[in-house]
Parts: sequence; C-alpha cells; structure tokens
Amino acid sequence: MIQNNIRTVMEKGSVGEPVKIEGWVRTRRDFKALTFIAVNDGSTMKNIQVVIEHSMPGFEKIESLLQNGASVVVIGKLAQSQGSEQKFDVIPDSITVPGPVPVEDYPLQKKRHSFEYLREIAHLRPRTNTFGSVARVRNAMSFAIHRFFQERGFLYVHTPIITGSDCEGAGEMFRVTTLDLKNPPLKDGAVDFSQDFFGREASLTVSGQLEGEIYATALKNIYTFGPTFRAENSNTSRHLAEFWMIEPEMAFCDINLNMDVAEEFIKYILKSVLEECPDDMDFFNERIENGVADNLRSIVTSDFERITYDTAVEQLLKSGKEFQYPVKWGIDLQSEHEKFLTGELYRRPVIVTDYPKEIKAFYMKANEDGRTVRAMDILVPRLGEIIGGSERESDFDKLRSRILELGLDEKSYWWYLELRRFGTVPHSGFGLGFERLIQFVTGMQNIRDVIPFPRCVNTLDF
Ligand code: 4AD
Ligand code: MG
Repeated sequence: MIQNNIRTVMEKGSVGEPVKIEGWVRTRRDFKALTFIAVNDGSTMKNIQVVIEHSMPGFEKIESLLQNGASVVVIGKLAQSQGSEQKFDVIPDSITVPGPVPVEDYPLQKKRHSFEYLREIAHLRPRTNTFGSVARVRNAMSFAIHRFFQERGFLYVHTPIITGSDCEGAGEMFRVTTLDLKNPPLKDGAVDFSQDFFGREASLTVSGQLEGEIYATALKNIYTFGPTFRAENSNTSRHLAEFWMIEPEMAFCDINLNMDVAEEFIKYILKSVLEECPDDMDFFNERIENGVADNLRSIVTSDFERITYDTAVEQLLKSGKEFQYPVKWGIDLQSEHEKFLTGELYRRPVIVTDYPKEIKAFYMKANEDGRTVRAMDILVPRLGEIIGGSERESDFDKLRSRILELGLDEKSYWWYLELRRFGTVPHSGFGLGFERLIQFVTGMQNIRDVIPFPRCVNTLDF
C-alpha cells in the first residue's frame, strides 16, 4: 500500500492498487448517487478526487462532516479517472473524519481571499493553493542552495545569531538584553551594560559575513544560510525585520570570480525550481504574475549585464526619466533606479560594480581611484537589489584606517583586523536575500507572503 503522499500516488500508483490518503477536503460536489471530494495533502498542488458512492457502508455517518477544510483519512483503491485533470481517482472502502469543520466559522471560504486578509490568518493560509505553492518552492530552493554549494566543496558554517559587532555598520540592530527595562542599572547617566547578560552590549546579527570570513580564511570556501535581523524602519513590499540570507565567502577570490559564482548560483536555483516544481511554477505563471516562469527560463540561458556604478548613473541621467529621487553621482541607487536599469533599459539582471565608497560598508576593498570600492550588487527586474557583495579589504593598514576614518570602534573589530595580519588573502563574498529571490521566482508582490511568519515594523501577529 502506498501511504500518505498524493504526489507519489499520482506519480507511481497504478489502477486497482490499494491506497490510503490523508489530507484535507478542498471541495465537494454532490450528485444523485455520488459525492466527489477533492483532497489535498500539501505534497503537490494537485488534489486527488475521491468518488464516494452513497451506498458506501457508513456514508450516512460522515456525510455531513465532509466539508471544506475537514481532515480525512480515505482507504480505498485507485481507479482510472474519468476527468481530464488527473490520472487517478480514489474509490473509497472507508472514510474517517478526524477533524470536522464548523462550516460557517471557517475563515477560508471557497472564494478567492486577498493576500492582506490571508496574512491575518497565517495559521490557515498554508492551506490555500498560493501559500502551499510558495512553501514547496521555498523548500525546493533551500535544498537547491545547499546542493549548489555542497557540489562545489563549500562548507556550511553556522555563524552566530547573537553578536557583539555591527557588520554593516549601519546601526540597524535589534538589541538583546536581560536588563530590567523599567529600571536599568545606570553608570554616569547611561545604561550600564557591564551588568547585562553578556557583560556588554549585544544584538541580533544583521549578517554572518564577518564570522564567515574567519572560516573562509581557514577553510577557503564556505557559506552561511540563516536568519538575519534588521531594525530598518522600511515599511515596503521588499523589507522584513527578520529575513534569511545566504552568504558564501571565498578565499583566493577576487571581485570577478565573485560575480561569476553569484551569476551561476542564481541560474542554478532558477533552473532547479523550474525542474522540481513544474506545477507550482505553472500556477505562478498563470495566476500570480503572467509569464514569470517563462522569464526565468530566459534568464537561465542568457548572460547578466555587468556595468559600473559610473555607467549606471550615466544611463539614468541620459534616460530623461523623472525619478522621485534625483540622480547624481554619489547617491545610493533607489529601487526606482534599479527597476529602470533592469526592467526597462537592459531587460535582464544587472550586476553593478564599483560603487562610491561613502555609500558602502567599511570592509569593502578600495579601488585605486580612491573614490570607489570593489562592491557588486545584483539587481533584477521588478524588485531591484537581491544580492549585495564585494571583494573585502585584505590589507591591514588600509582596513584599519577605513575603520578609524568612519569613527568605528577599532577594538570591537580586533579579530577582524587580525585576519589581515596573519596570512591575509584576497577574498570575496556576497549575500543573497532569500525572500527577495523567492519573490522574483514566484512573482509574489509582497515579501510578507513568501515567508511563513513575516516580522516587519508594527507587525508581529504570529
Ligand atoms: O546588501 P546587504 O546589506 O549585504 C550584506 O549584508 C553583506 N554582509 C553580504 C555579504 O557580502 N556577505 O544585504 C544582502 C541582501 C540584499 O541584497 C537583500 O537581498 C537582502 O540581503 N536584504 C533584505 N531582505 C529582506 N529584508 C530586508 N530588510 C533586507 N535587507 C537586506
Ligand atoms: Mg545592499
């Protein structure tokens, strides 16, 4: 007997074979002597149809319980389906209903609900087609990410979640403390963190990069894949306070190799999802964002555009477009600029390199021109930035003067500086925002709909 999984039943079953299906009722249709229920168990977006003859023993006991949302266990045999949508139906010998549903109270009615409404019922939204598909795609992408790096000999490193340093130097960190906030210990008028849990200030990490560099300068190629936290007050469709980031770090690697790896990496993930989740991708292609899967197919087979920040600015100025944020050399590219470059001008993913040093983090390697750094951001149509990366400053003196120049506390980066004293090496890496890539792959408009439980400004419902 094949158990449990509708996907394997559909793929490997044969007519007449006994099966046990466990899932939730999605729809019900009644005829004179027959009732059809469509059951879903999350293994595939497809439902399996159970064709119940009203003469089935015990039918009268469960008849009223077979409602949308109820959990069911169906034991029966596979039959050739009369419908064109699926290969098999199930002809049941018995059906039990462990969990009925009070129909009038069930928040998921048959009509199409808005994503805003579904966010309020995050405990039930995975039962919808859209959120089931997002979950399966997210799972396939996670696995593909590990596979990509494992196949290439990268080591998976677990960097800490609680940290004492600010990687991006942007001060957008959530504090971690056990101090009594109503009555904190004070010293010279300020909170005395020496009495806090760690004896010093601590935060949730914004990036695993700095610790990743420690491992890369010993084990050569590593990657991290974990949650990161940013207290950015950005209430947009692309920002979360808690998101997942993938950060490879490679020793003996310059900015060009870094870009090659990043491009190959993205293409690999897109290709994997298209191959492994065809039904879900068809659904996104038809119902969520017209042509999204076709677009991924074309990205997989063509080169990303590579331009410098200077060229990007030049192109934006030449475009004659009225941007909300006026363009001039030195500005940080805004998402409207990134969308123009990727969606309208080049119509493909674009890698922008050599940004002004003032708008990038302290650790990036300085270019000879003295005004730019070896940064590389990957921008994609519709979304803008999904990857931020760079070659790292590997020269001790240059890194130390940059830290001092920016007024950062040299002492809190002592170990980071020591990596440049002991066997320093050119090295590079990047960070991919996992949810942004899922948005790109699925066409989902809002980042809150591609993570199971979104955390954002003023939102912590679950
Ligand atoms: O560009 P960022 O800030 O780069 C870093 O953190 C580097 N330490 C990475 C590295 O070189 N190892 O962030 C990387 C990516 C962004 O391109 C974006 O996709 C995503 O992380 N990201 C966010 N995603 C969702 N919500 C937010 N608030 C995000 N902030 C950044
Ligand atoms: Mg960035």
